[in-house]
Amino acid sequence: MRTVVIESPGTVRVEERPDPGLPGPDGAVIAVEATAICGSDLHFYDGDLPLFPVAVGHEAVGRIVEVGPDVRRFAVGDRVLVSSVAGCGACAGCATGDPVTCVQGGGKVFGAGELGGAQSDLLAVPVADFQLLGVPDDLDDEAALLLTDNLATGWTAAQRADVRPGATVVVLGLGAVGLCSVRAAYAAGAARVLVADPVAGRRDRAVASGAVALEGPTVEAVLAATDGRGADAVIDAVALDATLDDAFGAVRAGGTVSVVGVHGLAPYPLPILGALFRNVTLRMTTAPIQSTWSTLLPLVQHGRIDTTGIFTHEFALADAADAYAAVAARTADCLKVLMKP
Ligand SMILES: NC(=O)c1ccc[n+]([C@@H]2O[C@H](COP(=O)([O-])OP(=O)(O)OC[C@H]3O[C@@H](n4cnc5c(N)ncnc54)[C@H](O)[C@@H]3O)[C@@H](O)[C@H]2O)c1
Ligand SMILES: [Zn+2]
Ligand SMILES: [Zn+2]
Repeated sequence: MRTVVIESPGTVRVEERPDPGLPGPDGAVIAVEATAICGSDLHFYDGDLPLFPVAVGHEAVGRIVEVGPDVRRFAVGDRVLVSSVAGCGACAGCATGDPVTCVQGGGKVFGAGELGGAQSDLLAVPVADFQLLGVPDDLDDEAALLLTDNLATGWTAAQRADVRPGATVVVLGLGAVGLCSVRAAYAAGAARVLVADPVAGRRDRAVASGAVALEGPTVEAVLAATDGRGADAVIDAVALDATLDDAFGAVRAGGTVSVVGVHGLAPYPLPILGALFRNVTLRMTTAPIQSTWSTLLPLVQHGRIDTTGIFTHEFALADAADAYAAVAARTADCLKVLMKP
């Protein structure tokens, strides 16, 4: 089978590898029909997370081609999506539906070393009953892919930002995760979502989802828009030192900063004294993907969260190098890429 490998920063190759076998009697093998590039894959591509070579990708939808004898809920031929984060499925942590709390070493992300990459012809999925969701016929590949990661992340970002009906929410960073966060904040009842991104065309995409674009320095713009009070919640879908500074500066006293962007390896100088005196809540989240499905699938299926307009480009898996170059440029034009094996 073919799998996409990042060899070094900026260098992507499509490699021939042996087909994966069943990862145990409770596992399954999926023939990938659609996969996608996430901002997290770009951390390898950009060299922020130097783990090379790495078979990448953690967003996949496809059909089951092999199941182990202990898989109860799925059969060969089923169309499924795969959680980007895997757990053992049997511990007290996984019983909550959150693989991040798995006591067997925490949530493991596909395409980050230990588990295979989803940007492949075939993907071995351990503990299939926990990691897979059957995809209804009326759900298209784009929506299914967003449920593997980005929409679950945006939704959880808003939940953990304590977004209440009527809230003013700021979203920093308008890649696919930020755009999903905008839509999730509105679905959670936000009255207005103020957005910042250096790329004007990405701000325009968020405005098309109902957001209000901030112009000029972010903190000043948020204070101006909130009569000097600050926002009820700030979702940081970038997690650079600069956006974390903006988040602490833009949140109101008693408000919540919800970080889902993946920060680099260097520590961030947390402005702890100011946050303490202002009663700021800080939450950081790797999305508990499986636990979001019972909420998000009906919201998507019944049109309460729109999943269109996030994928902008489609490439063949064989052209993965071009796909990475397109999305890593972070233009207004190319927001998220779908790849077909
Ligand atoms: N926590 C999780 O479970 C989870 C899941 C998926 C992705 N992520 C992370 O979320 C982040 C976003 O992912 P994405 O796919 O949207 O990536 P992306 O790279 O497409 O988007 C990042 C956006 O941030 C913008 N940006 C850069 N500097 C900025 C600044 N100073 N202020 C405002 N915006 C700025 C960029 O222009 C870009 O539009 C990544 O760090 C990714 O690793 C986390
Ligand atoms: Zn991801
Ligand atoms: Zn577990």
